[in-house]
Amino acid sequence: MKQYRVAIVGATGLVGQEFIRILEQRDFPMSSVRLLASDRSAGRKLFVRHEEIEVEETVPESFENVDIALFSAGGDTSRYFSPIAARAGAVVVDNSSAFRMDPGVPLVVPEVNPEDIKWHRGIIANPNCSTIQMVVALYPLHKVNPIKRVIVDTYQSVSGTGSAAVEELTTQTKQVLEGQEVVSSVYPHQIAFNVLPEIDVFLDNAYTKEEWKMVEETRKIMHANEIAISATCVRVPVFTGHSEAVNIEFSRPMSPDEARQILARAPGVKVLDDTTVSLYPHAWLAAGTDEVYVGRIRQDASHPNGLVMWVVSDNLRKGAALNAIQIAEEMTRRDWLSSGG
Ligand SMILES: NC(=O)c1ccc[n+]([C@@H]2O[C@H](COP(=O)([O-])OP(=O)(O)OC[C@H]3O[C@@H](n4cnc5c(N)ncnc54)[C@H](OP(=O)(O)O)[C@@H]3O)[C@@H](O)[C@H]2O)c1
Repeated sequence: MKQYRVAIVGATGLVGQEFIRILEQRDFPMSSVRLLASDRSAGRKLFVRHEEIEVEETVPESFENVDIALFSAGGDTSRYFSPIAARAGAVVVDNSSAFRMDPGVPLVVPEVNPEDIKWHRGIIANPNCSTIQMVVALYPLHKVNPIKRVIVDTYQSVSGTGSAAVEELTTQTKQVLEGQEVVSSVYPHQIAFNVLPEIDVFLDNAYTKEEWKMVEETRKIMHANEIAISATCVRVPVFTGHSEAVNIEFSRPMSPDEARQILARAPGVKVLDDTTVSLYPHAWLAAGTDEVYVGRIRQDASHPNGLVMWVVSDNLRKGAALNAIQIAEEMTRRDWLSSGG
């Protein structure tokens, strides 16, 4: 089997750490791995497959002799280094929002649109975490009964913001419990014991950028510009796992039983839905696992063609690192590494 030379940009971050874990767990065919971060982490040592590897500062020369570059170091780093990596011959799978809506860059969830990988020109974008888990659950239903409208409310964990936010929730929780003054630096308000309806910046249309990503990215991934979508994205004091209440209007009625049967066969989905024993997905259960869990599937009492469901997944795994590695696996399996665009 062919082996690939892999680079991880942002290797010291929450998603970067998950990249390392998943590459090991899935036994990705790699002959070498280069760990890259900012100059702050240069010289740190991390273990990959029991081998100690030194973290290097990301510089333009970092991408020589690299086949696949997995990026998770923020939009500015991606915007600057991804084209350099692509020119050096690597295929970039980028976790930031820098290229997602670029018409020349495929935006891929392997369970939905793997064939879009084929036309990449050196950069493939990994969607936003809340969008990924939603489309994995929506697409199998859409194929059977086209979706006309989606209303989604999210309950997103702090790890979605990165390691500084995980520290902030930990510190603030202690501060509240010990009666100390609470200091906020990552979020505009206290996140411990609180709920904030603000993720990313506010736009001119009064939505946040995170909410608008869910609208635009869903349509691009599903090739369905006609679907009407409205999202409200909310940060909750949970460490890992995003939850979503998804309200769907189909072209025709769909019973909850039919939806359960379709989703039970869908790739990457696990249905947990038995309210008689309080069986439904929740963030604590999803953390550290790979599936997109769906439960609380019920008829929308306000619309004859409507269904409501509850969708939960690990934002660092399926919402970020796992999806990117699945893209890389698909590329290597189908021999789609060389640019097709
Ligand atoms: N967390 C999620 O659920 C999630 C989901 C989807 C996408 N993403 C995206 O993934 C990216 C990283 O997220 P994260 O949660 O892992 O954040 P994080 O824990 O804050 O880690 C950030 C990483 O980026 C590196 N970095 C920062 N500036 C850099 C620079 N100038 N050059 C090279 N590396 C640099 C950091 O290196 P140092 O250690 O040297 O500072 C660190 O490795 C973001 O673009 C985010 O939007 C995150």
